[in-house]
Amino acid sequence: MVGAGISTPSGIPDFRSPGSGLYSNLLQYNIPYPEAIFELEFFFHNPKPFFTLAKQLYPGNYRPNITHYFFRLLHDKGLLLRLYTQNIDGLERVSGIPVSKLVEAHGTFASATCTVCRRSFPEKDWWADVMMDRVPCCPVCAGIVKPDIVFFGEPLPERFLLHVLDFPMADLLLILGTSLEVEPFASLSEAVGASVPRLLINRDLVGTFAWRPRSRDVVQLGDVVHSVERLVELLGWTKELQDLVQRETRKLDGQDR
Ligand code: OAD
Ligand code: ZN
Repeated sequence: MVGAGISTPSGIPDFRSPGSGLYSNLLQYNIPYPEAIFELEFFFHNPKPFFTLAKQLYPGNYRPNITHYFFRLLHDKGLLLRLYTQNIDGLERVSGIPVSKLVEAHGTFASATCTVCRRSFPEKDWWADVMMDRVPCCPVCAGIVKPDIVFFGEPLPERFLLHVLDFPMADLLLILGTSLEVEPFASLSEAVGASVPRLLINRDLVGTFAWRPRSRDVVQLGDVVHSVERLVELLGWTKELQDLVQRETRKLDGQDR
C-alpha cells in the first residue's frame, strides 16, 4: 500500500505535509479550501484548478524513484501480489509494473469520462486541451470531460474490490508514504491476517500503527528513499536494483529525445 510520500522524492508534493503539501499551497491553484480540488461540486463551479493539477502531473514531467523501482523489482522476482496505490501520478506504470498488478485506488489520468453522457475517452483525445489550459469538452454532448480521478464521494474503481481476495492471501504487507487518513483505503491496513507482519515505512507513525499496533508490526520512521535503500541492502538486492534503475532511466531518456 502506497501513498503520496513515495512520490515526494520524485518532486511531487504530497497532500498533508505541513508547508510542502498540496493542501498548504492553495494559492497556486486558486481554491477556497484544500479538498475543493477533488470535489465534484467545486469542479462544476470551476474545473480550472483541477486541470492545473492535471497539467502539472502530465506523464513525463516526473520520473519514478527508487521506491517505485523497488516494487518493480519485487514484481520481477514474482513476489508482488499487488500494489495498491492512492497516487494519481502514474509513476507505478512508468516504472514498468504491469497494470494487472496495480490497483490505482484513487483513479488514473490514463482515461477520462464525459461528466454528462458518460462516454469514455483515451488520453490522446483530451491531453492537448489540458496542456493548452483549456477545459476538455465532450465532442458529442459538450459536457466537461473529467479524467478518471476519484473525487470525494465518488465510488472507487471496480478493481479496488480485488482487495477482498488479495489481502487474505498476503504474507507480508508493506505500507509506504501514506498518512492512512483517507477511507476506505486506510482500512486495508487491517485486512491482512492477524499473524501477517506489517512493515510501515513513513516519516510519521500513522493509522493503526499508532493507535492499535500489532505484535508483528515493524516501523521504520524517516525518509522513504533512505529506508528502502536500507531494506534492499538487507535483502542483498542493491546491485540488482541499481542496474534496474539505470536500465529504466536510459529507456526514459530515450523516450524524451
Ligand atoms: P498524505 O499527504 O496524506 O500523506 C503522505 C505521508 O507520506 C505523510 O505521512 C508524510 O509524512 C509521508 N511522507 C512524505 N514524504 C515522505 C518521504 N520523503 N519519506 C517518508 N515519508 C514521507 O498523502 P496520502 O496518504 O497519499 O486523494 O493521501 C491520501 C489521499 O488524500 C490522496 O490519494 C488524495 C488525498 O485527498 C486523491 O487524490 C483523490
Ligand atoms: Zn458527453
